[in-house]
Amino acid sequence: DVQRSLVLVKPDGVRRGLSGEILRRIEAKGYTLAAVELRTATPEILAEHYAEHEGKPFYGPLVEFMLSGPVLAVVIEGQRCIEGFRSLAGATDPTVAAPGTIRGDLGRDWGLAVQQNLVHGSDSEESAAREIGIWFNDLA
Ligand code: CMP
Repeated sequence: DVQRSLVLVKPDGVRRGLSGEILRRIEAKGYTLAAVELRTATPEILAEHYAEHEGKPFYGPLVEFMLSGPVLAVVIEGQRCIEGFRSLAGATDPTVAAPGTIRGDLGRDWGLAVQQNLVHGSDSEESAAREIGIWFNDLA
């Protein structure tokens, strides 16, 4: 099925100047960019986006990190792009993410309270619809 997924280049990726490299990898894989917007998150957006993580020990540091600078919000489109982008992104922990993936090639552990792992990608069609609605009201 043609799917849409919400991808975020997190503040560490934007700050390090990796937005273009990450978009390049998405396009090189063959996915289409349906929307791209540089935005600063708000506590309200993050409370919705990370509702499933509320109460976890890394939730506070995660929200603080996600508010630390602008994020690049992206909607990508293509056959099975939800699974495909998660494969491109690699494992959550950038230290062990496979080389060849965004996190494995470009990320590392910085010794901080939250894993700064450059990108977010929706994990299911349900999450994608929900998250696209959060970040791009008009595309929902
Ligand atoms: P992501 O999977 O996109 O969304 C949740 C984020 O929380 C995750 O990326 C990491 O940035 C962070 N995270 C997840 N698990 C941990 C953990 N055990 N310790 C610190 N940060 C985490």
